[in-house]
Amino acid sequence: MAKLWAGRTAGMTDKIADDFNSSIHFDCKMYQQDIEGSIAHAAMLGAKGILSADEAQALIDGLDEILNDLQSGALEFDLSCEDIHMFVEQVLTERLGDLGKKLHTARSRNDQVALDLRMYLRAQGQELLEQIYDLLAAIEQKAEQYKTAIMPGYTHLQRAQPILFSHQLLAYSMMLLRDADRLKDCMNRMNVSPIGSCALAGTTYDTDREFEAKQLGFDSVCLNSIDGVSDRDFVVEMLSCIAIIMMHLSRFSEEIILWSSWEFKFIELDDAYTTGSSIMPQKKNPDMAELVRGKTGRVYGDLMALLTTLKGLPLAYNKDMQEDKEAIFDALETVQMCLSVFTPMIATMRALPENMKKAAQTGFINATDLADYLVGKGLPFRSAYKVSGQLVAKCIAEKKTLETLSLSEYQSVSPLFENDVFDAIDLENCVARRSSLGGTSPASVEMQLQYVRNAIKQK
Ligand code: ARG
Repeated sequence: MAKLWAGRTAGMTDKIADDFNSSIHFDCKMYQQDIEGSIAHAAMLGAKGILSADEAQALIDGLDEILNDLQSGALEFDLSCEDIHMFVEQVLTERLGDLGKKLHTARSRNDQVALDLRMYLRAQGQELLEQIYDLLAAIEQKAEQYKTAIMPGYTHLQRAQPILFSHQLLAYSMMLLRDADRLKDCMNRMNVSPIGSCALAGTTYDTDREFEAKQLGFDSVCLNSIDGVSDRDFVVEMLSCIAIIMMHLSRFSEEIILWSSWEFKFIELDDAYTTGSSIMPQKKNPDMAELVRGKTGRVYGDLMALLTTLKGLPLAYNKDMQEDKEAIFDALETVQMCLSVFTPMIATMRALPENMKKAAQTGFINATDLADYLVGKGLPFRSAYKVSGQLVAKCIAEKKTLETLSLSEYQSVSPLFENDVFDAIDLENCVARRSSLGGTSPASVEMQLQYVRNAIKQK
C-alpha cells in the first residue's frame, strides 16, 4: 500500500526497506500517549478556529473510540504501518474519511514523537519511583528487624571494623533515596512540551502551544522549536538514572551473593528466590541476585548506545533518533523487572546474626579500638597503632585473639594497659562507641531509620 506520505514519491517502498524503517512493533507501546496528544491537538485546532468546532469534536470522538478499541482489544495494531503515529492517523481516516486527514495540520511526526516519548517516560518514571519506594520500605523493615546484629564491616573485602548489619543495609537506603531524587529531578526537567515545534521551525498557523501543554499536564513549553524536536537529553538523563539504580542494585546483589555463600553464611534467602542445580543436589543458588548484577551490564549498554547514536547528529530530526526508544524501553523494562524480584527477595531473606557475630570475633576487627584505648591513656595515635599491630601479630603467631590475651601479655607490650582493656575491645562496646554523626552506633542507626521512614512517608 502507498504510504500516507506518498507524494513526491509514489510511496512504494521495498518490503525490506519497510521492515527496516518501521518502528511500530516497539513504539506501539506509546499508543495511549499518542492518542491523548492527538486529542489535545484537535482540541487546540478547534479552539483556535483552525478547524471548526464540529470538526474538532468529531476528531476527538474518533480518537477516543480508537483508544477504547485498542484498550478493549477490538482494534489491533497494523504492523504494516510505519509507526504508531501513522497507524492512528490511518485508522482515523478509515473511520472518518477526509476529516481524519485534517488532524495533522500544524504538526509533524517530529514533534509528535518527542511529545509521546516525554509523556510515556513521565508515566513510567512514576511507576519506577513507586518501585524504588517499595524496596526502601523492605530494606527499612529488615534493618529494623535485625537492628542489633553485629557483623564485620569490610574494606578491600577484608574484615575491617565491627558494624551493625542494619547500618550496612541503611547505606543502600541512602543510595536509593538519592536515586529516587535523581529520577524526580529528571522527570521535572522532562515535563516540558515540545508539541507545536512541528517539523523543526514552528508553524505559520496561529496555534496555542500552551493550551496543548496544559491539557497534557506539562509544566511549560520548550522555547526553541529546533531544540524541541532535536534533543533526546531527557531520554539520556532517564537512562543515566536507571543505570545508577542498576549499579546500586548490582552492588547490593553482589553482597547478597557473598553473604549467602557458605564462606559467609550471614543470610539465608527464601527458597522462592533461589534455584537448584541440575547436577549438584546440595545447591541453592542466588540466581535472582546474579541476574540483577548481570542485567546491569545490559542497561549500561542501552545508555552507551543512545549516547553514541546522538553524538554526531546534526540538528534537527534524523531517523537515527528512532533508536532512542528501544534503548530506553529495554532499560525501563529491565530495571522494573529487577526491582519486582529484588524487593520480595530482600523482604523474605533471613539474617543469621550468630554467624555474623562469629565472623566479627575473628579477624581482629577491634584492633582500631585497641589503639583508641591507648590514645585514651595518653599515647599518640601513631604509637598506639603500632602497639596494637604488634599485639595482632603476636595473636596470629600464637593462634590467639585480642579477647583471649591475658592482661599480663598486654602489659608486657605496654604498661598503659589495665583491666578495662577488655571492655574497650568488646564488640558491642566498639559499635556503641561509634556514635559520631552517621556512625554505626545503635543511636545513629535509630536516627537513620527515622530519616528513611520520613522520606518514604513524604515520597
Ligand atoms: N518513528 C519515528 C521515530 O521514532 C517517528 C518520527 C518520524 N519522523 C520522520 N520525519 N520520519 O523517531
